[in-house]
Amino acid sequence: MSAQKFMARKTAPEITGRKGGDPIVCLTAYDAPTARILDDHCDLILVGDSVGMVVHGLTTTVGVTLEMMILHGQAVMRGSNQALVVVDLPFGYYEDSPERAFKSAARVMRETGCQAVKIESGSYAAETIAYLVERGIPVMSHVGLRPQSMNVLGGFRARGRTQKVADEIVENAIAAAQAGSFAVVVEGVSAELANKVTKAVNIPTIGIGASAGCDGQILVTPDMLGMFERVPKFVKKFANLEDVVRDAVKTYADEVKSREFPGDAQTYKFS
Ligand code: KIV
Repeated sequence: MSAQKFMARKTAPEITGRKGGDPIVCLTAYDAPTARILDDHCDLILVGDSVGMVVHGLTTTVGVTLEMMILHGQAVMRGSNQALVVVDLPFGYYEDSPERAFKSAARVMRETGCQAVKIESGSYAAETIAYLVERGIPVMSHVGLRPQSMNVLGGFRARGRTQKVADEIVENAIAAAQAGSFAVVVEGVSAELANKVTKAVNIPTIGIGASAGCDGQILVTPDMLGMFERVPKFVKKFANLEDVVRDAVKTYADEVKSREFPGDAQTYKFS
């Protein structure tokens, strides 16, 4: 056994064990420097397929590829030490069969070193979740607003407004939990419905635009940092990085133009 220093990360069973306990802190990350900063305070870092929209400028997550997820997953693993890292399986790489889902998930885990994957879970998903979990792949499910299905759902809108859809969301969450998911993301539903899901399942619910009563919360990090002017209404901006970056770039541009810029060979050292 090598003497290499090994720092234990949180595990999927540990996250499951937090059901009804201390709230689970989760955020998304897509690169190593951001993962390094989040790692001190997050139990779980999700390499979300939101990367397509917030990093690559796509209008939906539908165009995200497995290769993109692997590249960003590798970066997040390099930047973090203690959080559980979960990587999203993107649209088109898992829905049609459990075998296909296994191949995609195994490749993601092998090539990134992440410890779990997330899939958006409609009624078809229970068989796939059980298949993956039996074969050693921890799965986080995702119910409510499922962004990969936005073309069927009609856009990024809150879900569960009719009794029929609300019941389906509860049933999907129960099926995902019974199939062996270690946690379930509940996105874009009323607080009442999110609380109902939280009561109905024996695994932690991770809310996003759902309810403070969920077992944990997740946000898309660039949204909560104020990197974008327009964010969904439920998102609290904990910083306003767009303004900070604009001011810094303006100051830089002014210094370059006035030839006041200080860098030279004498100062080309890393502290
Ligand atoms: O892709 C993503 O960032 C997500 C979160 C919104 C939960 O799925």
